[in-house]
Amino acid sequence: MNQITIDETKCKHDGACVAECPVGIIMMADKKSLPKIIPGGEEFCISCGHCVAVCPHGALAHTIARPEDLAEVKKEWMLSPEHAEHFLRSRRSIRAYKDKAVDRETLERLIGVARHAPSGHNVQPVQWMVVSGAEKIRELSGAVIDWMRYMIKEKPEIATPLHMDGVVLYWEMGRDMICRNAPHILVAHAPRALPQAATDGTIALAYLELAAPSLGLGTCWAGYFHVASLYWPGMKTALGLPDGHVSLGAMMVGYPKYGFHRLPERNAPQIIWR
Ligand SMILES: Cc1cc2nc3c(=O)[nH]c(=O)nc-3n(C[C@H](O)[C@H](O)[C@H](O)COP(=O)(O)O)c2cc1C
Repeated sequence: MNQITIDETKCKHDGACVAECPVGIIMMADKKSLPKIIPGGEEFCISCGHCVAVCPHGALAHTIARPEDLAEVKKEWMLSPEHAEHFLRSRRSIRAYKDKAVDRETLERLIGVARHAPSGHNVQPVQWMVVSGAEKIRELSGAVIDWMRYMIKEKPEIATPLHMDGVVLYWEMGRDMICRNAPHILVAHAPRALPQAATDGTIALAYLELAAPSLGLGTCWAGYFHVASLYWPGMKTALGLPDGHVSLGAMMVGYPKYGFHRLPERNAPQIIWR
């Protein structure tokens, strides 16, 4: 049962925990009383830890964490607007990788950052599969190519705008445009019974992509790979996700062969102000 305890000597009754609780289960009877969970509120707690994290005085402990268990926000590490923009704009899709595997510890560190991505109701449904090795990855690319051949023949109205014919042609010439010789493919997956997990998986992969350069890694969304894993039986079998699980997205990961030296431009935003 989720409970909070308040250190009376530290609580300043500022109401931050009450205001920030996402499900509104913390209340203070008046400005002098201590915060407490409303009767029966425990079962609605989503264990997000906000009540502990927001208290500047370290006065609130929760059954999931005490203030001293949580790392502090380092104000001096916060990015300036210029650094944040540069950090986000300098992220690039990497399509040429060194022939070098990434060690498990580094991949775990990367996934460890991605697990801090937001998820609806803090359900944290995203799980990971790490596929490594040229042979296995080539088998998966081959399954995607089988799907593309089927699509070109049976559903050209979908295959043509997605340039599947060109991808297959390159494959036949020995060039893999599906996984691009990346040493690893990371697949985010979740139980099929959680349809809301699709958005959580996309956000987790975006976190992963943004964290990768700090570890010297490059990434690229594996969009064809992902769609084939949703629809093509041969791909589903080759990938072998746990029973009842569905792919939420896939990412190529490896050490980039080249660096980028300029920031490409993108379309001007189209905004409706109301
Ligand atoms: C959902 C999604 C799927 C993608 N799938 C692929 C893919 O299968 N292969 C690929 O080379 N790039 C893929 N990309 C990368 C885009 O082509 C790339 O983001 C875009 O060209 C902009 O380049 P940038 O990421 O360097 O800004 C995908 C991107 C997204 C968001």
